[in-house]
Amino acid sequence: MQLPDENIEYDFKRLLAPPAEPWTPLAELQSQHLLAADRLEPMRAILNAVRGRVAAEREMANPPAELLPLQAGFIDGPQKLLDNFRRKGDGSELARVNRLAQRLRDNADRVVVLGAGGSYLGAKALFDALCHTYHNELPRNLRIGKPRLYFEGNNVDNDALADLLELLETTCVEPETPAERWGIVVVSKSGGTIETAAAYRAVRGEAAKYYGAKSDWLKQLVVPVTGPRGKLRDLVKAEGIADDDTLTIPDDVGGRYSVFTPAGLLPAAVMGLDTRALLLGAAAMTKRFLEEPFDRNPVLQYAAVNHLMAAEAKKTTRVMAVYSKKLEAVGFWYDHLLAESLGKHGRGPTPLTCVYPRDLHARGQQHQDGPRDKLINNLVVRTQKHPAIVLGMADRNEDDLNAISRRGLPDLQEAARHGANQAYADAARPTADLVLPVLSEHTIGQLLQMLMLATVMEGRLAHVNPYGQPGVEAAKRNAVAVLKATPNLPKGEVRDQAKGV
Ligand code: PA5
Repeated sequence: MQLPDENIEYDFKRLLAPPAEPWTPLAELQSQHLLAADRLEPMRAILNAVRGRVAAEREMANPPAELLPLQAGFIDGPQKLLDNFRRKGDGSELARVNRLAQRLRDNADRVVVLGAGGSYLGAKALFDALCHTYHNELPRNLRIGKPRLYFEGNNVDNDALADLLELLETTCVEPETPAERWGIVVVSKSGGTIETAAAYRAVRGEAAKYYGAKSDWLKQLVVPVTGPRGKLRDLVKAEGIADDDTLTIPDDVGGRYSVFTPAGLLPAAVMGLDTRALLLGAAAMTKRFLEEPFDRNPVLQYAAVNHLMAAEAKKTTRVMAVYSKKLEAVGFWYDHLLAESLGKHGRGPTPLTCVYPRDLHARGQQHQDGPRDKLINNLVVRTQKHPAIVLGMADRNEDDLNAISRRGLPDLQEAARHGANQAYADAARPTADLVLPVLSEHTIGQLLQMLMLATVMEGRLAHVNPYGQPGVEAAKRNAVAVLKATPNLPKGEVRDQAKGV
């Protein structure tokens, strides 16, 4: 399963300033905006020391106050799940995840996945990256037992949720017909996220209307994923869902680090992904992080150069330029990871996801000529899944493409990437490449684990606690206070849903 040629790599040589002899205006700019090659040498010892501390944090039973909150469980989580699966087989947590997913797949043709932040973005990233681009549009026989998936519960967006309910009402009219059954996965570690709780109330109400308030389908087709305790756990218990059918996000894994817990693994298994391959990729990355020297360690490399570019070269906007539409949601997942982990005490890089070359037509001008505050990390997939779509010769050549008729879309994309990198390099604008050999469960497992580990390393290098998000609590408290301080009445017209089931 773990093929060496599937290793992901970070290539940052374009970030290093060439020797500045002779002096030129470009050399001057490079010395200001790139890294001096000898700047990395003293970092090696620092990185080893910080890695040692991050490794030690995994074992701390009683962490000192200055490390709190500490949620390092994600580091060994993937390997622990795999070991547990090897030892206990059908009795393991991973087998339980796969079994509950299989139950949904066998009995429902549509699954609504409810969750916000870390309880949403990881699963969405996996769906977009690894499922067919038009998965939900494929007819049932081509989806081979994989339900359509809808993501909700992240935005209290009245019209979007109403549209989804309407879709379910118009496409599913006979609950005994498997193709017209739908289920719910509700994910909330705290159980207290109002966006998710409100959507669950509405969607479960819809399910109760459809199947009947006492129908067993309400137990078979609703799978909760939550923390060891909290309002959601209490609620689903009261609804009669068995403890064994409720999956757990461990206490020692924070929301945005939870993609390799049931928060991400259950939706992944529902969409038919190989959960073991995801975990093997993630576990392989942890092993590389802990054991490999700097030159073979993408976590240390990425953390070091991104930290230095932010802290010393003042590249405070970090662009993740994904060279595949399928990776845009991975970019959004990383936005969340970076922003909530490092955006503290008036510091932290601002993440920005772009799809290149699409966004070269939207942001290229600013990235080339705007403020010199950006580091661009390209996320590149080396080998495409499908054979190349070749331009071919045409009778009408008004578009002037016959001269490059033997080129395929991958060639055009590569040319766009080299073109952009060269243009940025010529203006001393820093770029680097994060390279995935292919898009697979194994490489995505590596990538997400790599970015989580690098974020923790960066936090420790910058003396910022990468865990916890105290800054978002005030907004949540205020929203609840506003609701409680105003009359308990809706504004405007009310959907039938609210009349209760
Ligand atoms: O990173 C985090 O912890 C947050 O973004 C959470 O994932 C998000 O707020 C959702 O929380 P919960 O899973 O408790 O509903």
